[in-house]
Amino acid sequence: MERDQKKKFYITTPIYYPSDKLHIGHTYCTVATDAMARYKRLTGHDVLFLTGTDEHGQKIEDKAKEAGCTPQEFVDNIVQGDRGILDLWNLMNISNDRFIRTTDDYHVAAIQKIFKKMYDKGDIYKGKYVGKYCKPCESFWTESQLVEGKCPDCGRDVQDAEEEAYFFKLSNYADRIQDLLENTDFLEPRSRVNEMVNNFIKPGLEDLCVSRTSFTWGVPVDFDPGHVVYVWVDALFNYTTALGLLNDKYDDYDHYWPADVHFVGKEIVRFHSIIWPAMLMSMEMPLPKKVFGHGWLLLDGGKMSKSKGNVVDPYILAEMFGVDALRFFLLRTFPFGSDGNFSNESLIQTINVDLANDLGNLLSRTTAMAGKYFGGTLPAGRQADALDEELLGMVAALRGKYEEHMEKYAFQNALAEVFKVIQRANKYIDETAPWVLGKDVAANGDRLATVLYNLLETTRICGVLLTPFMPASMDKLFDQLGAGEAARTWESAAVWGGLAAEVSVTKGENLFPRIDMDKALAELEAARQAAMAPAKPAIEMEPWQEDVDFDTFVKSDFRVVKVKNCEAVKKSKKLLKFTLDDGSGVDRQILSGIAMFYKPEDLIGKSLVAIVNLPPRKMMGLDSCGMLLSAIHKENDEEKLNLVMVDDKIPAGAKLG
Ligand code: MSP
Repeated sequence: MERDQKKKFYITTPIYYPSDKLHIGHTYCTVATDAMARYKRLTGHDVLFLTGTDEHGQKIEDKAKEAGCTPQEFVDNIVQGDRGILDLWNLMNISNDRFIRTTDDYHVAAIQKIFKKMYDKGDIYKGKYVGKYCKPCESFWTESQLVEGKCPDCGRDVQDAEEEAYFFKLSNYADRIQDLLENTDFLEPRSRVNEMVNNFIKPGLEDLCVSRTSFTWGVPVDFDPGHVVYVWVDALFNYTTALGLLNDKYDDYDHYWPADVHFVGKEIVRFHSIIWPAMLMSMEMPLPKKVFGHGWLLLDGGKMSKSKGNVVDPYILAEMFGVDALRFFLLRTFPFGSDGNFSNESLIQTINVDLANDLGNLLSRTTAMAGKYFGGTLPAGRQADALDEELLGMVAALRGKYEEHMEKYAFQNALAEVFKVIQRANKYIDETAPWVLGKDVAANGDRLATVLYNLLETTRICGVLLTPFMPASMDKLFDQLGAGEAARTWESAAVWGGLAAEVSVTKGENLFPRIDMDKALAELEAARQAAMAPAKPAIEMEPWQEDVDFDTFVKSDFRVVKVKNCEAVKKSKKLLKFTLDDGSGVDRQILSGIAMFYKPEDLIGKSLVAIVNLPPRKMMGLDSCGMLLSAIHKENDEEKLNLVMVDDKIPAGAKLG
């Protein structure tokens, strides 16, 4: 069907900050969006699924500085590098149609035009910003919004901020936003509406600071050099620039905008349900149909964060348990609108109970019996029984129930309906006891074929409904069931009889192997420890020396010495001769074999450290009274040496201890 004949569905994830590697909490939101996008495609929609990265802002600028690279190099590495964001979405089988980076040229140019439009309209004006700024959250706050003096979102310290800045007239839109939130279904779940209205709108919406001058890593305000656009203005409009708003890169704005739903985490609901619609009103653009604020995955009841050292690496989990099992677990276990506590135990438990035991067993037992009793191909004869009615009734009602939940983004409830049927089918095996019928296939063939067909068909329909959650595994399941293309469609999930009457099954690989809980937990713990272990040292370490007793050690007399003169020793490639002020009033001479590391003239005037109570030694006929201390290490098999130097303020003769 042509794209324009289908109903369009435009869905987005938040665009992620590439400031650190993503963890399982970020993966949760993207997997949920992917499952919804796949569901909508399955149900015949023309879907556009957008995700991307939000790459500007002070946090990224600071992190790049720490890492010793440019901000662009820094974000490129996290986005496109090994095990970066693109790799992660690829691994997790995320089916996004588009990926936007806010550093993309077309986006930057479009943001400049958008900012100018709001300025020309009078909704953006120049003023002075005095307030508080939370650096990790990139959020401005007024004094009254702080909670016990801290950032209301993350609870961390905020800093004073004062600078010339542009402001957006958010206050002008307060009434319209309140009406939108209270009197429409714009924001869900409903509980989030009260939070927004009571915490942000009722206390009075203040104008929003939308430019910064204290750093440069952002979209420049093209009519006022020195200002960069506030990162949230830059970020929110990604949902429209990625469709082609005010740029030539894409041409889908008229077709897909407004978005059908933005999935966002609860802490960024404020930006999406207040600031975003207000700016769209200013731009006179249609509003998205819905913002859905999902809950957080918590660890031990608290937020996942790198600083707490408790983030969970989706790569490790996906590699150990399989991508589909992980995707399934995330949406089966936690109600989408509320917080949920992540644990490895519940992940393994869910895989073992739902996937290995219930679904896996249903498939393997049924295909095995079809193989054993009928050589893999069912005969056409049928014999129904009252025992079949309950199962068939549940299957007939399943798609409708599932759809009702999916339309409300209630993934957990949709999956619960599917698993009720799977459990019922396993019970049906016990009730019908095909192994008893199989004792006399000649006599019971029609009944036995009916039981097995009912099981295969039930599994097929459940498989169709599980496809958005576990796409790769369901393809394999359909292959084992002998389900052709037409028996994998949404329509076919409402019609009994998608499998041919004389269907041929193949007993294939075990799709969801049972996990040994203790062994897996131990492996996860080892992986966690390995991830936390300090990185391989940058240098090749010299082994530690044997212990020396304290009294011997303290006899060594280390002093600060100043280099009065330094020259190469004739006929020696290695030796430098130092004339040193050691604070005693009499010059000290030390010879040191470091000519390959320093030019003598560079050392004159430097303050070094020497051990001064060694007996004098003759070298090339000259006395050496002591030794200069230096740090020695190897880099790529090459020896490196650095003399220990101390601050010039420390006088010659000062004792080290
Ligand atoms: N860059 C902004 C979004 C801009 S959208 C125009 C941002 N990025 S983020 O990388 O910090 O977060 C992206 C999403 O991941 C947010 O929706 C956030 O709620 C979600 N999650 C981060 N940690 C999470 C959990 N532990 N659990 C569930 N979702 C979590 O915010």
